[in-house]
Amino acid sequence: MRDKYRVIGPAYDFLSQLYSGRNIHRCKTAMLDMTTIRPGARVLFAGAGHGRDAIRAAELGAEVTVVDLSATMLRKFDDARRQEAPHLTIHTVHSDIMAIDTPGRYDMVVANFFLNVFDEPMMERVLGHLIDLARAGGQVVVGDFCYPTGNPLARLFKKAYWYAAVFTFWLFANNAFHQIYNYPEHMQRMGLTIRDRKHFKLLNMDCYWSILGQKPA
Ligand SMILES: C[S@@+](CC[C@H](N)C(=O)[O-])C[C@H]1O[C@@H](n2cnc3c(N)ncnc32)[C@H](O)[C@@H]1O
Repeated sequence: MRDKYRVIGPAYDFLSQLYSGRNIHRCKTAMLDMTTIRPGARVLFAGAGHGRDAIRAAELGAEVTVVDLSATMLRKFDDARRQEAPHLTIHTVHSDIMAIDTPGRYDMVVANFFLNVFDEPMMERVLGHLIDLARAGGQVVVGDFCYPTGNPLARLFKKAYWYAAVFTFWLFANNAFHQIYNYPEHMQRMGLTIRDRKHFKLLNMDCYWSILGQKPA
């Protein structure tokens, strides 16, 4: 299968820093700490990309699995792991996330800036699958662009900011072109309880959020 991130993948983390300062990185790691991740916890990163968030989870003692469909992205992940945490073992799977067939295995499933690559019906199927992969009582984390709220000017800015990003990835990676999703709404509708949500600002406006959902025990 064609690697959709062959062209833009090598520069992905650099571009995200350029676009957001360190805010995308902060968003991706916001729910990863000693209160949410116990040593030995099984944590899955779906569409992990360069995976610095996965490295953080492994540093906290988690047993981490990263899954990505792009060989380019996984190569960049491996470079980052070897440079930043050569002592850590992280299980790497080159696969479509929908082919991961281990329901109930994970204490936490993380989807950072991953669900936004899909059109809405597919995004819902993928989110449902990620929820299945978490154990009963387990956690599902979604980090992404924040649903636009605030005054009309703020909403306009947030939408323009999103459409510039989605257009770039539609052009270079053939991702779906769509409006910003309201992830907490989808997560709740699929049976998760929202336990925490953190916002990250650009120009003093909330542009990203990380949402921690929990499956019923
Ligand atoms: C927008 S990037 C986000 C990467 C990373 N999570 C981050 O926050 O930097 C989306 C990632 O999802 C991967 N991806 C897209 N469709 C996928 C699928 N069906 N299964 C697994 N990975 C997929 C892409 O290869 C890419 O690495």
